[in-house]
Formats: sequence, structure tokens, C-alpha cells
Amino acid sequence: MRYIGNKENLLDKIHQVMQSKNIQGNSFFDFFAGTTSVSRFFKKLNYQIFSSDLLYFSYVLQKAYVSNNEVLNFEKVINKINFQSTSLFTSPLRIIVEYLNQIEPIEGFISQNYTPFGTSDLKIPRMYYSNENGKIIDAIRQKIEHWKTENLINENEYFILLACLIETVPFYANISGVYAAFQKKWDPRAVKKMILRPVEFVVNNKENFTYNENSTELLNQVEADIFYLDPPYNQRQYAPNYHLLETIAKYDNPIIKGVGGLRDYQNQKSKFCNATTAIQELNKIAKEGKFKTLILSYNSEGIMKQENIISALEKYGKVELVEFEYLRFKSNSNGERITKKFIQEQLYILQKYA
Ligand SMILES: C[S@@+](CC[C@H](N)C(=O)[O-])C[C@H]1O[C@@H](n2cnc3c(N)ncnc32)[C@H](O)[C@@H]1O
Repeated sequence: MRYIGNKENLLDKIHQVMQSKNIQGNSFFDFFAGTTSVSRFFKKLNYQIFSSDLLYFSYVLQKAYVSNNEVLNFEKVINKINFQSTSLFTSPLRIIVEYLNQIEPIEGFISQNYTPFGTSDLKIPRMYYSNENGKIIDAIRQKIEHWKTENLINENEYFILLACLIETVPFYANISGVYAAFQKKWDPRAVKKMILRPVEFVVNNKENFTYNENSTELLNQVEADIFYLDPPYNQRQYAPNYHLLETIAKYDNPIIKGVGGLRDYQNQKSKFCNATTAIQELNKIAKEGKFKTLILSYNSEGIMKQENIISALEKYGKVELVEFEYLRFKSNSNGERITKKFIQEQLYILQKYA
């Protein structure tokens, strides 16, 4: 998924660094889980995973990829819908996804608030989704909720289906990267009819735990060999930038405001978006966290200064800094011009004193 700070392309590098520094363990706490790309990578390496994020849409992905630990058969709902798949050899999840791809689009919170059809009375009608895709999202989202209420799917099946929706909707969003604003002209991607995509099942033989919390509040509860910290690195809060994923995941009819139709995010503000409070939080995590090794992913453009990070960490153990260059692509606000820039990715490694 396209997400600010997604570490998908850096995972091999991070793992190589861990191996070269002989960092070992059986358990891994993905402290700022986001898209869960880090959790999934280490789950596949058979670590026991703990993960958390302030955002609920991330929790949906965590429940689907991290805590669910089996390939699900959707037995009850498949029996109920009595649907013939067009392909001979297919999985239960693919049957359900195929079924959801042919249900009738209907009106709901997304089409009423984030498409031109539903917002024609506004001075600037919202163009996040095409009229058709807004109704497709509503139809699929309501069907998943209905199946859950009717007990036709269990909790894991529910989160797997929500994850399919959350992973699919960004491909059709008429935005230039984040959801704080929509584009004023239709992107060709956004006018294609939305087709739901199945997610992968990630299975290991450990019990894995997921949370939708401020991770600093979990320091008493979670103990793991490795704490991996990938916090926001500038003042921009994640919640307003991904408000629409949050609303599709929660589907809670929130009060929304402004041109972009943002939901309230007072309870989802991160202390890592302010240089002073970020260092205080880092210090608390290093001090109180129950880990052997803490790895902090950061970069040369972050708001916490290198010397402050090192002095916060070195009170609690041996600190090393590994830096490598990373080519970042950045699009401008209307998504037309892409600039390339090398930045220094940094891994601060703290081996805690016993
Ligand atoms: C840089 S992103 C993480 C990206 C993630 N590693 C990935 O690969 O997708 C930072 C994440 O931290 C979350 N976050 C910020 N402060 C948090 C806190 N105190 N507790 C839990 N999550 C937090 C944000 O919601 C965001 O998803």
C-alpha cells in the first residue's frame, strides 16, 4: 500500500543490518505498524509478532495479516450465498471476493460524502471517488458488516474481508498521495470500475498479538526480544492524511468537516510529530520497554536531532548508528511532477544493558 514511511522496500536492507550485527530473537514488536509490511516480513521469518498503531485501518490490516494465523474457509457464508464461481480451481476467499464484485452498488456514507453525486450541494463537490466506485465501496462495506451481524463470518473472516477492501480502495482514490485533499481533475485510475482484490494469508506457528493503541501505553504489557520503532518523522499527523481509510474501516458515520470532509482525530495525535515530545517518548520507551534490542528507523530529515536521539538511547545500553542512502520519489501536491532525492535512512540500534 502507498503509505508515508512504508518500509516495504527497505525490509531486506533492515534484515541484512540485523544479521550483520548479530541481532537475534524469537519475538518482535512492530511498535508503529502502519501497513504491517514490517510485521508480515518478520512473521514470515517465524518471529512471534506484537504490533500496534493508533489508526484503526492499520488495526484491520494487523488483525488480518498478523493475528489471524490460518487460511480461512468462509464455510457458513459460502453455504448461505450459494454462488457459483466462474473459475474451476479457486479458494474460498476468491469465491467471496468474486461474489462481492458482482453485488449491486448502493448508496451509503462514502457515496453520500466523498463523491460528486453525494456532495453536489457543496460549493466544491468532493471528488475522492467516482459516483460508481463510491456506491461499490458502500455496498461491499455494508455486506461485510451484515454478514458479521448475522454470524455468517467469524472475527478473522471479517477482518480478512475488511483488509481486502482497505487494500483495494487506494487504487481508485482520486488523490495525489494522501487523503487530506482530492484532485480537481479525475485521475484515469479513479474512473475505472473498482474490482475488489483478495489479500494473502500470512501464517506462522506462533501466537501473535495486535493492538489499536498508543504503543507507549503498552510498555507494561508487551515484552519482546526486538522492539522495532518506525515513528512519524515530521509534524504531519497520519490520521488526517488517511481519514478516508479510517472511515471506510470503521464505517461509523462520523461528523466530518471542511473541503476534504475530515473526521475528528483528537485522540489519534502522535507525540512523535513534535521534536520535544518525540524525544521524551523515545526516552520513556528505551527506559521502560522490555526488550533486548531496540531498532529505531529514522532519516536525516526527521525532526528529532541525531545527537538528541543518541543521548536519549545511550543511557540504557550500547548504541550504534547505521546509515544508508535511499532514493525517495516525491510527487508535488497535484501529483503532476515527481522529484527524486537521496536521503540518509538511519537505523539506531540500542542493545539494552542486562
Ligand atoms: C512511519 S509510519 C509506519 C510505517 C510502517 N512501518 C510501514 O511499513 O507501513 C508511522 C505509524 O505510526 C503510527 N503512530 C504514530 N504514533 C503512534 C503511537 N504513539 N502509537 C502507535 N502508533 C503510532 C502512525 O499512525 C503511523 O501508522
